[in-house]
Amino acid sequence: MKTRVLTGITTSGTPHLGNYVGAIRPSVTASRRDDTDAFYFLADYHALIKCDDPARVMRSRLEIAATWLACGLDPQRVTFYRQSDIPEIPELAWMLTCVAPKGLMNRAHAYKAAVDANASRGEDPDAGINLGLYSYPVLMAADILIFNAHQVPVGRDQVQHIEMTRDVGQRFNHIYGKAWRAASGKKGDPFVLPEVVLEERVATLPGLDGRKMSKSYDNTVPLFEGGAKATRDAIARIVTDSREPGEPKDPDSSSLYAIYRAFASEADAAAYREALRQGLGWGEAKQRLAALIESELGDARERYARLMAHPDEIEAILREGAEKARAIAAPFVATLRKAVGLGSLLAPAKTGDAKKSGGKRARIVSFRDAEGFRFRLLSGEGDELLLSNAFENPKRTGEITRSLLAPDAAPVTEAVDETHYALMLDGERIALSPTYADALERDAAAVTLLGALQSLRS
Ligand code: TRP
Repeated sequence: MKTRVLTGITTSGTPHLGNYVGAIRPSVTASRRDDTDAFYFLADYHALIKCDDPARVMRSRLEIAATWLACGLDPQRVTFYRQSDIPEIPELAWMLTCVAPKGLMNRAHAYKAAVDANASRGEDPDAGINLGLYSYPVLMAADILIFNAHQVPVGRDQVQHIEMTRDVGQRFNHIYGKAWRAASGKKGDPFVLPEVVLEERVATLPGLDGRKMSKSYDNTVPLFEGGAKATRDAIARIVTDSREPGEPKDPDSSSLYAIYRAFASEADAAAYREALRQGLGWGEAKQRLAALIESELGDARERYARLMAHPDEIEAILREGAEKARAIAAPFVATLRKAVGLGSLLAPAKTGDAKKSGGKRARIVSFRDAEGFRFRLLSGEGDELLLSNAFENPKRTGEITRSLLAPDAAPVTEAVDETHYALMLDGERIALSPTYADALERDAAAVTLLGALQSLRS
């Protein structure tokens, strides 16, 4: 089984070199591994917490999406989407909010830092703090748990949020696990508790002034915006001491070497270090750094400019990604709704154990048509729940229905479009649902179907 890796970037700023080295480049590299199934998204609901400028949020979404794609992210290979295209995320966030201990949120460092800043100014502790900031970790937990991610690569400042995700997920598993197993017909817990992946090798990049490169310190080197010139100009502003060319330099007295190392092979980085020690001028050292960065990013910058000029292409890619993501999120949240008691009022009669409820059981009917041998699944009331593919002979149809009803079978439903879902067994699509009015009805029906199969098994 592949490891599901998930991470998001808050869309409130323009990507800089620090974001590239710390998040974007490693995420693209990780997405190419054959043993991982990557979910990468634009955390645009999170952006609203700290940014109330709609134009900024809109622009940042475009810039971050274009950056990811320009840097080589393959949207066919990964699930690449926008958080706000998945309404199931805030829906799950609410369910999690209702099991999240308030005391846990009191300890979240972003919230605590804001409270401390108020206190040090002698203000009311909660001055200027919105509830979004307070419950930020719950929304983040929903981002992660909804896709049952195994690993979440993040920076050090986000580690606490992953721990909170585990806490909240575990609480939900504990409270609703039994109801979820009944609703889904599955074993185990609704949520995987994710692990944090801290990329130790990826040091935080220092900015122009030697502090961590960050928009809030105004010390960043632009990545693509402003073109190659903007990157070069920023590099020219990296703070150095006043030693002349020919005088030996301490490579660690400036950010130059640390940034160089993030782009160079080990041998080249060592050579650069040595050259500074031997008296390489700061001006020349900056030119070498600019050339090195350009050699890694030049082509990507061109792709970026092209993508930025075609927002329609980015929009289409994101919508396709959202469809892939919702095919997983929608049925999962539909089952969770049921587990917490928000399912259809009709569902229990249809899906409950037929023997207990005294109703008629669902049944499977095999038949032949022009294309081959099929089966239908009918509810106790005689409604068609599912129509199978056409198989070449009745023996094959029999095998499929038997494995579908085996005690350890783990069929899953997958949305095909807004009004249909497919039934998957061991990765193979074996049947298609009837047409439903909309996605909500489709997802409710998918849950009903899984219940009916479960009742046939017992
Ligand atoms: N909070 C993260 C940040 O600002 C972005 C984010 C939102 C995220 N949801 C996530 C990261 C889920 C990983 C997983 O960096």
